[in-house]
Amino acid sequence: MTLAGRTALVTGGSRGIGLAAVRALAAAGARVTFTGRDGAAVAAALEGQGSAAGTVEGRVCDVTDRAGMERLAGTGGGFDILINNAGIIGPIGRIAEVAVADWARNIEVNLIAAFHAAQLAIRGMLQKGGGVIVNLSSGAAHRPLEGWSAYCAGKAGLAMLTRQIHEEYGGQGIRVFGFAPGVVDTDMQGAIRASGINPVSRIPRENLRPADEPGRAIAWLCTPAAAGLAGQELDIRDPALRAAVGLEALP
Ligand SMILES: NC(=O)c1ccc[n+]([C@@H]2O[C@H](COP(=O)([O-])OP(=O)(O)OC[C@H]3O[C@@H](n4cnc5c(N)ncnc54)[C@H](OP(=O)(O)O)[C@@H]3O)[C@@H](O)[C@H]2O)c1
Repeated sequence: MTLAGRTALVTGGSRGIGLAAVRALAAAGARVTFTGRDGAAVAAALEGQGSAAGTVEGRVCDVTDRAGMERLAGTGGGFDILINNAGIIGPIGRIAEVAVADWARNIEVNLIAAFHAAQLAIRGMLQKGGGVIVNLSSGAAHRPLEGWSAYCAGKAGLAMLTRQIHEEYGGQGIRVFGFAPGVVDTDMQGAIRASGINPVSRIPRENLRPADEPGRAIAWLCTPAAAGLAGQELDIRDPALRAAVGLEALP
């Protein structure tokens, strides 16, 4: 129970990697609050918590709703841990073809909302003397992929925000990580497969990894054992990281 006594906020915790992170954090002893936009999905995720149900809370809140996120951040004296997980892949399409509003919405969810959540969390963490922020990154943060201009630009911006948080607050007890979860079997990868536009969309579903792997890695990053890696962009495919988390080696 290495996270006993800690409180955590997971954005976009109703499905996929976020839900796996909620489970792993709760299993490690943290009290976890998660968000999602769809009330039915939030309720279903809560029902699936089993014995951890008493320590997990779900809130319907769009991560781009600053007022709603402020209300969340203010509950219970703020959070010790923030998992900036909520993200969207679309619009999928070449630059000349995508709608400007869809492109801007992607940046709003994947980058600007992550900034809002980080700002609110940091203010609370500074009062507590520290905390942990994990920003969900991607290989797309570091290389272009056909049809993903908004996603690549947003994740690249988020990777710089990770470094910026470390630069400004790493010396004040705030440990921040960028974490690329690999290619994971979630709804997002279903949408990517349906698009057929780039090599990622052609990865067979059976080659995708289960969400519980990044979920466990995220919980591990929140423990003091990961402190020496703070400020970095980490990738779950790194054999040393997998070994530290206790994940099996990749084939
Ligand atoms: N799957 C992969 O292979 C992969 C690879 C690299 C990086 N990632 C990153 O990992 C994170 C999670 O991905 P995933 O594959 O688990 O995605 P997913 O299956 O599509 O789940 C996304 C989660 O975020 C929530 N969400 C989306 N927009 C939101 C908003 N505006 N406000 C609040 N919640 C919102 C969704 O719930 P609602 O829709 O109900 O709001 C859902 O709970 C993302 O940041 C993604 O970019 C994933």
